[in-house]
Amino acid sequence: MAIIGIETLLYGVNDVTECTRYFSDFGLPLLEQSVDHAHFRLDEGSNVLIRSINDPAIPKSSLVGTGVCEVIWGVDRQDSLDRLIKNLGRDREIRFDADGTAHCLTDDGLAIGFRLYRKDPVHSSPDPVNSPGNVNRINTQRKWKVKARPKTVAHVVFQTPDPEKSWNFYRDRLEFRLSDIQKGFGIFGRANGANDHHNIYFLNANLPFPGLDGNHRFDHVNYGVEDMDEAMIGANYMERQGWPKSAWGLGRHRIASSIFMYLPCPAGGQAEYGADSDCLDDSWVPRVWNPMFGFFSFIHNMHPFMLDAAPWEWEYAPGYTPAAKQPHAALPDGEAE
Ligand SMILES: [Fe+2]
Repeated sequence: MAIIGIETLLYGVNDVTECTRYFSDFGLPLLEQSVDHAHFRLDEGSNVLIRSINDPAIPKSSLVGTGVCEVIWGVDRQDSLDRLIKNLGRDREIRFDADGTAHCLTDDGLAIGFRLYRKDPVHSSPDPVNSPGNVNRINTQRKWKVKARPKTVAHVVFQTPDPEKSWNFYRDRLEFRLSDIQKGFGIFGRANGANDHHNIYFLNANLPFPGLDGNHRFDHVNYGVEDMDEAMIGANYMERQGWPKSAWGLGRHRIASSIFMYLPCPAGGQAEYGADSDCLDDSWVPRVWNPMFGFFSFIHNMHPFMLDAAPWEWEYAPGYTPAAKQPHAALPDGEAE
């Protein structure tokens, strides 16, 4: 079985028209819209659907508030999809659409679905970078862009009262791989058929930060752009259209090495431009990170709680490296090891 990524995100929102304008300005390609919905499709073939939070198409779940109310995971083959659904059907109700899409709830009550996904290859060509003594661009200027145009949906993040329980379902029932643990803060997981650093992150909803209240809430989606220039150009364009500014500004996470630009989003939570993330496969060894050390290597707007430099603390997650060799008893005379 291979889940290859997020095929569709279904947002439940307060104002469909406003959110459609937001995501158009954000740079998502609009496929179709009506009075009660909007449908964006990214170059990779993933979909972003906007509907009213009161629309009957929004599934009942443990999620509180607006934002992504259902994640449809894309599966590479029909037999993989059938096997996955059969397994989940042992202990939960599965609802099917006419096109074969299956819907159910996770163990913590969030709405998910599965369907076949023919992911299209995407192309990008970040400008070569010059640095002292290392000329990769001569007599050539960098590209000029008007606005961002995200090509991929890299990950979705939910606030959850019990990140371990939320993660265990994905690990044990959907065969997700552990990417990294941000100690006390949350768990990063990767779909088994994807190479993104993570496709889902469960953030501890009981942390004492604004916006966290112990409930299951949507937090943000990461939309992939070419480089940090596109993330900043996108943010400038959004500000010119009248949308609120980012609280943190441009930064780079240490976990995943990824460039981030989080923007407040009227659809709920935040919308993130992401670039230059680490990519992983099954040879990756997960780490456990000091949460603030892992959070950023640089950030434009340091908030008071970020001023103290975090200790450089990380270690490999237990159980993912070869066991240390046991010191063995002396061998009997004449026996070679
Ligand atoms: Fe993110």
